[in-house]
Formats: sequence, C-alpha cells, structure tokens
Amino acid sequence: MEQVLWQTQFPLLSPPRRGKVRDVYDLGEQLLIVATDRVSAFDVVLPTAIPDKGRVLTQLSLFWFREMEGIIENHLVETDVEKYPAPLEQYRNQLRGRSMIVKKAKTVPAECVVRGYLAGSGWKDYRETGNICGVTLAPNLVESARLPEPIFTPSTKAEVGHDTNMCFADLRTFVGQSLAEQLRDVSIGIFEKASGVAEGRGILIADTKFEFGIIDGKLKVIDEMLTPDSSRFWSAKEYKPGSSQESYDKQIIRDYLNGLDWDKTYPGPELPPEIVEKARARYLEILKILTGKGLE
Ligand SMILES: Nc1ncnc2c1ncn2[C@@H]1O[C@H](COP(=O)(O)OP(=O)(O)OP(=O)(O)O)[C@@H](O)[C@H]1O
Ligand SMILES: [Mg+2]
Repeated sequence: MEQVLWQTQFPLLSPPRRGKVRDVYDLGEQLLIVATDRVSAFDVVLPTAIPDKGRVLTQLSLFWFREMEGIIENHLVETDVEKYPAPLEQYRNQLRGRSMIVKKAKTVPAECVVRGYLAGSGWKDYRETGNICGVTLAPNLVESARLPEPIFTPSTKAEVGHDTNMCFADLRTFVGQSLAEQLRDVSIGIFEKASGVAEGRGILIADTKFEFGIIDGKLKVIDEMLTPDSSRFWSAKEYKPGSSQESYDKQIIRDYLNGLDWDKTYPGPELPPEIVEKARARYLEILKILTGKGLE
C-alpha cells in the first residue's frame, strides 16, 4: 500500500525539530526520529513528497546499521512500534516502518564523507585544483573514475544551505587528533565493507556521508546510513567512466528541476505525478537490490 507523509503532528509530544527530511522528537535521553517523505533538491525542501521514501530510507539504514555492527555501534534503541513507550501508541500507524527510537548523541560537528569515485563536488574540486580538500590525486583522472583507494573528505555541517569542504587538518583542529583519526578510519572501514556488499549486488557506491556522535563516551554512527539521500549509488553494469553516471537517487528530480526556470531558492516548485512516480520507483528499486527485500 502506497503511503505518503509530508510531516508528523503529534500533539502529545513537544514540537519536533524538523530537518529537511526527518522530524525529530526529544524524548529526554532518547530521540524519536521519523523519516517523512519530504525530498530536498539543491538544499530546498520541495512542496511535493515522494510516497514511501521515508520507509525506504529507514529500511535501508536499518539494514546497514546491522551489517556494520562489527565495525561500529549505532544509535538504535527500538524500531518496533509495538514496543514504543505509551504516549506514542496512538501514532503507531504513522510511525510504523519509518521511525526509530535512538540514543541522543553529542554529535560530531562534521559530515564524514568518503569517496570511491570522482563525482559531484569531488569531481568539480579535482577538475579545478587537482585535489579534493587537501587530498592530492593523480593527474588526468576522468569524471567518474574509480580512485585507487577510497578517500576521506569531511565537510562542515552547515546550519543552513550548502555544506563546505574542510580538510583533514581542519577536522583535527576541530575535534582533536585522535577522534579525527578514528572518524577517518571508521568511515573508510564502513565504506570498504559496504562497497563489497553492494558490488556483490551490482551496485557501486560512488560516495557517501556518515554522521557520528558520542553516546556513553563511545563513538557511534547516528542519523541515517548508506541511503540514496546520503550516497551516490551507480549500476556496475552501466558504469562508464568519462562522464557523469545515472544514480539511484533524486537525479530524476534534479534533471526535471534543471529544465525549469527556477532559481533554486525557496519556494521550490511542485513535482508532476510522473516525476514523483519515477522517483518513487527508483527508491524502491535500490532498496530491493541492496537488501533483497521490498517494503515491509
Ligand atoms: N542519535 C542522534 N543524536 C542526536 N542527533 C541526531 C541523532 N541521529 C540523528 N540526529 C540528527 O537529527 C537530524 C535528522 O534530520 P534530517 O536528516 O532531516 O536533517 P538535515 O536537514 O539532513 O540536516 P540538518 O541537521 O542540517 O538539519 C540531523 O540533524 C541529525 O544530525
Ligand atoms: Mg540528514
């Protein structure tokens, strides 16, 4: 059954913090994170939602959190709505399949980006400067080229608008030498393991972004993990270096928006039904390929 949720309204709880995609409710020691069907493009949240997107993102994150348990612990406390605390009981139908109760973390103020291929802003920086935030790469690499090894290119978590690159040295100044090294090593470790899993299913992970936090004095992965919103997934079969690749994310939406006369500031335009349906199919497809399962 197709389901669409633009935003949650839970009057029994204090008002949430609404991110671009998630509504986050403060439960004290814990947070209730609800992935809505909102979609953003060019950092603008669009007025049209993509049915089931929040459920796809949640199911994919849960899949990867479990796959990566041997490398890094995560923030999950409960994902079964039947076991949620009493005040949430009457909201179960909206929460099912798209929410998680997590431990509140002291968040690391950086987005931990790992790149295995040259795409997006990484490609742009390389083309202009020959390096990506301080990591020098071989000359003459083409767009979408596979890098000899994955590189760690953290960026700041912008409160509003675009994130900006920072180099590893900046991260070190920000969080200290030992945490910076741990963030790099864990991020690359997750990326390598996930790439192995995905490649076995015909998918290349071009790049991705992790968020981490400290919970009970320990580093844990938080937020979402290896979803089409946080990653570029390419079909291995169709991979052709030398130009940009189709990706299993909101490319369909971006392409549509690029054809409009819109200046990429608020308010964003509505999406027509055929674009919504194509984008939804794409989200469902990558879920099926990566996890072997459809929506639960
Ligand atoms: N365990 C956690 N503890 C604290 N904060 C968390 C935790 N897990 C996720 N978050 C935060 O919850 C928010 C999720 O909302 P969402 O992903 O929609 O935000 P966003 O618009 O992508 O990012 P921003 O944080 O810049 O608003 C993020 O700010 C994320 O950092
Ligand atoms: Mg986010």
